[in-house]
Amino acid sequence: MSAAAGKVLLIAGGSGSVGSAIARAALDEGWTLAIHGRSEVKVAGLVAALGVRGPAEGFLVDIWQVDAADTLVAEVVEQFGRLDAVIDCTATGPSGITGLFAQAEPAAFGHFLDLSVGWLQRLAHAAYPHLAREGGTLLSFVSDAGVFAAPRQALIGAARAGAIGFIRNFALEAARDGIRAHCISPSYVEGNDSARKLGSERMAKAATRAGLGLPTAEDIAPLAIFLCGDGARKITGQVISVNGGLNA
Ligand SMILES: NC(=O)c1ccc[n+]([C@@H]2O[C@H](COP(=O)([O-])OP(=O)(O)OC[C@H]3O[C@@H](n4cnc5c(N)ncnc54)[C@H](OP(=O)(O)O)[C@@H]3O)[C@@H](O)[C@H]2O)c1
Repeated sequence: MSAAAGKVLLIAGGSGSVGSAIARAALDEGWTLAIHGRSEVKVAGLVAALGVRGPAEGFLVDIWQVDAADTLVAEVVEQFGRLDAVIDCTATGPSGITGLFAQAEPAAFGHFLDLSVGWLQRLAHAAYPHLAREGGTLLSFVSDAGVFAAPRQALIGAARAGAIGFIRNFALEAARDGIRAHCISPSYVEGNDSARKLGSERMAKAATRAGLGLPTAEDIAPLAIFLCGDGARKITGQVISVNGGLNA
């Protein structure tokens, strides 16, 4: 074990677009980082790039392996000796989950539901004693589909609403142990793989409805860091959309 210089933030799915933007912002605010992902190349590449800014280590755990959450949290605590905040940015592709319900793939839903709620509660359970010890924060990335109704979003909305329900109820209970919990809810995010998959026409159409302009991952990261920091010590159980004014 090497004792961490500062507070330790685990970013699950930290090698993705939102996670890596949060990682850059977190290092600038003095956090010590545990960057989790599945692809060794992506995690190692990000950790190498972050190394010039501050302390960051990579952790490779497939979230579908048995006891993945327990294994990940144990490895992080073994490495750094403490855990002060967990941000869950894990995601799998939306194949079969978004689109007209009549054309959806019902069989794909169980997998996505388990990612959205099952994995999140397993991660929360594994991290709980460490977050309680430090007065820490759990932050889950969800989606505006879980907050605002829209066509083509019935399945993704159902799974994300489940995660929101978990976090809000968890937050009230965990507050007695000094733990805070929130959701950040993006909609369309510029400049990442999701935007490329949606295509420029759909992104442009969404952009015309977002009065402030669609956010990038860099626009989302400061809120995540704020919610995990001391400035938010009396705030819990919130679901905050970062969508450039697309939904309210
Ligand atoms: N970006 C958007 O447009 C948008 C919009 C609404 C909501 N959100 C939500 O915001 C969060 C972050 O989105 P993002 O765009 O940053 O996602 P992303 O770029 O796809 O990143 C996903 C992360 O999860 C990891 N991951 C996926 N499957 C895994 C597995 N089986 N085991 C371990 N790690 C796994 C990925 O690692 P590998 O790359 O190694 O697989 C990556 O680090 C997600 O919850 C997403 O649903 C995003």
